[in-house]
Amino acid sequence: MDQGGGRRWRCLTRCQRGARGLSYPTDNVCEVIDLLELAPSVGADGILTVLPAKLDCLVDVPHPFPYQGSKRALAHAILRYLPDDTATLVEPFAGSAAISIAARYANVADRAVINDVNAPLMAMWRAIIDQPVELADQYEAMWQDSLEDPKAFFLAKRSEFNETNDPALLLYLLNRIVKGAVRYGKTGLFNQSADNRRLGAKPATVRERLVRTSKVMQGTDVHSGSYAPLLIDAGASDVVYMDPPYQGVTNVRDHRYMSGLAREDFEQALHKANDNNVSYVISYDVVREDNKYGEPIDSELGLTHLHVIAGRSAQSTLSGGSDVTVESLYLSPALVDRLGGIDHLIA
Ligand SMILES: C[S@@+](CC[C@H](N)C(=O)[O-])C[C@H]1O[C@@H](n2cnc3c(N)ncnc32)[C@H](O)[C@@H]1O
Repeated sequence: MDQGGGRRWRCLTRCQRGARGLSYPTDNVCEVIDLLELAPSVGADGILTVLPAKLDCLVDVPHPFPYQGSKRALAHAILRYLPDDTATLVEPFAGSAAISIAARYANVADRAVINDVNAPLMAMWRAIIDQPVELADQYEAMWQDSLEDPKAFFLAKRSEFNETNDPALLLYLLNRIVKGAVRYGKTGLFNQSADNRRLGAKPATVRERLVRTSKVMQGTDVHSGSYAPLLIDAGASDVVYMDPPYQGVTNVRDHRYMSGLAREDFEQALHKANDNNVSYVISYDVVREDNKYGEPIDSELGLTHLHVIAGRSAQSTLSGGSDVTVESLYLSPALVDRLGGIDHLIA
């Protein structure tokens, strides 16, 4: 795999970590530093902001639909932790399955298994993989019909979706809602509002997205159920990539998703996965410059904790803001062994 330009690793001393204002819950910490040309404004305020170097092999990777929390941008970092012999990339909290798509597109995994608790979402995924043209036709028909009164059309289609769970309706809603952010009310009904400034992506764009994604994801197993068996029973040459709901790894109800996730259950499943020598990567939380940071994962799991500095948004830079985003990744002991050990990672 092309590693992209200017990549280097280094281990930060405790002193350097303190100077960055980053606190680390484990000692087993490395930071991936992918040096690109830094915008002059970035270094000037004393904040080290480095962007993961883009992998050439991900140029033009397709994405099927807007989805809040998509890890498309992080794929450039995560693909580096997939060993060359990865057979199956398993994504139990798939959403828009950005990492599976990237892994298949870059040909670093032979196949993918995707799962999400959101059953209608996975039914839509089956349609994307098996019948992209039919799905694109349905989207096009809806998009055309919406032009007369887009607001009323959206509300009618949302009600219809809540009665039928039809995949084409979900695709239409995802293209119309605010920031691709799925929201369900207490009764489990989809209740997100439309972004009324937009009509949703043009039919030709959606068609291209679906057809290209379908091609990349042929042979993928699609499930809708618990993440646990997919994690615990993964094979020795597989890698499981998990992106559980943000801060939802608690019992607090998270309206962004259909279901919360009990942190204890999650850690218990991770222990079982460790017992089975499963290779896994977890995107756990997002660390920000203000040092707001979720509960660290149980240190007894022996995970290797990485911070990938995802940089500041263009908008923030323009407005003089400083919201540097650091993505937090955990690697399982079996995966670190497969990658040659921690010393090899930081060499
Ligand atoms: C942060 S999103 C994943 C986004 C994904 N990485 C992407 O690229 O689009 C988390 C996903 O986990 C799903 N989810 C929440 N609880 C779950 C559970 N208990 N089991 C499986 N999936 C779950 C949600 O429906 C949501 O799609």
